[in-house]
Amino acid sequence: MGEAQKQQAPKKTGGLAGIVAGETNISAAGGAHTLEYRGYSIYDLAEACIFEEVAYLLLYGTLPNQTELDDFTARIRKGRDLPEAMKTLLEMVPVGAHPMDVMRSATSFLGTIEQENENHDELAITERLLGIYPSVLAYWYNFHHKGLRSDTDTGTKTIAGHFLTMLHGRKPSELHQKAMNVSLILYAEHEFNASTFTARTIVSTMSDIYSGVCGAIGALRGPLHGGANEAAMELIQEYTSPEEATAGVKHKLATKQLVMGFGHRVYTEADPRNRVIKEWSRKLCTEGGKPELFTVSEAIETLMWDEKKLFPNLDFYSASVYHMMGIPTELFTPIFVMSRITGWAAHIFEQRKNNKLIRPNADYTGPNGLKFIPLEERA
Ligand code: COA
Repeated sequence: MGEAQKQQAPKKTGGLAGIVAGETNISAAGGAHTLEYRGYSIYDLAEACIFEEVAYLLLYGTLPNQTELDDFTARIRKGRDLPEAMKTLLEMVPVGAHPMDVMRSATSFLGTIEQENENHDELAITERLLGIYPSVLAYWYNFHHKGLRSDTDTGTKTIAGHFLTMLHGRKPSELHQKAMNVSLILYAEHEFNASTFTARTIVSTMSDIYSGVCGAIGALRGPLHGGANEAAMELIQEYTSPEEATAGVKHKLATKQLVMGFGHRVYTEADPRNRVIKEWSRKLCTEGGKPELFTVSEAIETLMWDEKKLFPNLDFYSASVYHMMGIPTELFTPIFVMSRITGWAAHIFEQRKNNKLIRPNADYTGPNGLKFIPLEERA
């Protein structure tokens, strides 16, 4: 980064910004052009892998060979099944509920019917969650929006294929499956982000894995974290041309509004994941006959850099990628859960291996030594 940019980069204070809160060997966010999972560049992984290979890498620490991958995908596939009690729960959750609340509730409920114990360990639970999440989301959505009780047996091999097939009731194109795989790979892991740190904090009390994941889902739901991909879609859809977008976003900045999908706590110049997802957005918008979605997005990107030196994070172009696959906007953040469960679980395992209760201190800023007033004498 040049000196001029350094001076313009927003100064980060509060919120533990810049504080190293522990060690990890799962991923390294190395700057604007690198992010590595267990030492492997996300660019290589996104180019060559299906999501399951990356999930295995994060959970087991090494890339799988063909047999290990086949066994792993078979176990995940087995985990797609929804118990009757889970179907009942999903049918009872109201249509107006936010799908992130559905994911959180389903996780919590699974923790009561398939508890963590000596027969059901953290790896088995994670593989189950990897299998069941796409089914949970598609079943709940299709039941409430299409009146369907969708079959979880889609006959598809991958998580990406299973989710798209179950949601739409038809097999997705190769291009869409590849785009979904790339997106799941890019979302899988990101060091001590808010939801991962929440999960680590929860299990540091020696709590169970489901509690850690429920807390992580709660943290991810907010628009400053995972919720930004939904907010980004709403923003892009406000405009029909690049000119309109430029004027509209200029107005938002002038009125001090946050522009969702821009900026990052750790990066100051660029989000290394952006260049991959941006190309997929370009590809899908062009191929799907909605090039204006991409040109509007690019106009927002240009303006944000020119005016604020802010850059798109992974959430910004993910929004148009999902939209072009026919995915309803309210399901964008739950897809993040389908992927990030791998990073959360890897961090939960790592935390447990060398556990120390996470309990920082605070600087007290309130009054001291006040004279106590009995209830009957208080004004
Ligand atoms: N739109 C407009 N202004 C933004 C902005 C955005 N997306 N992101 C940061 N800024 C501005 C802040 O308002 C602040 O301006 P100020 O100094 O005039 O008050 C300045 O840039 C510094 O940002 P700050 O909020 O201190 O950075 P942070 O590290 O605390 O926040 C985010 C990081 C991600 C929370 C923040 O960039 C943001 O809210 N982005 C939008 C939500 C989003 O996309 N989240 C997904 C993250 S992957």
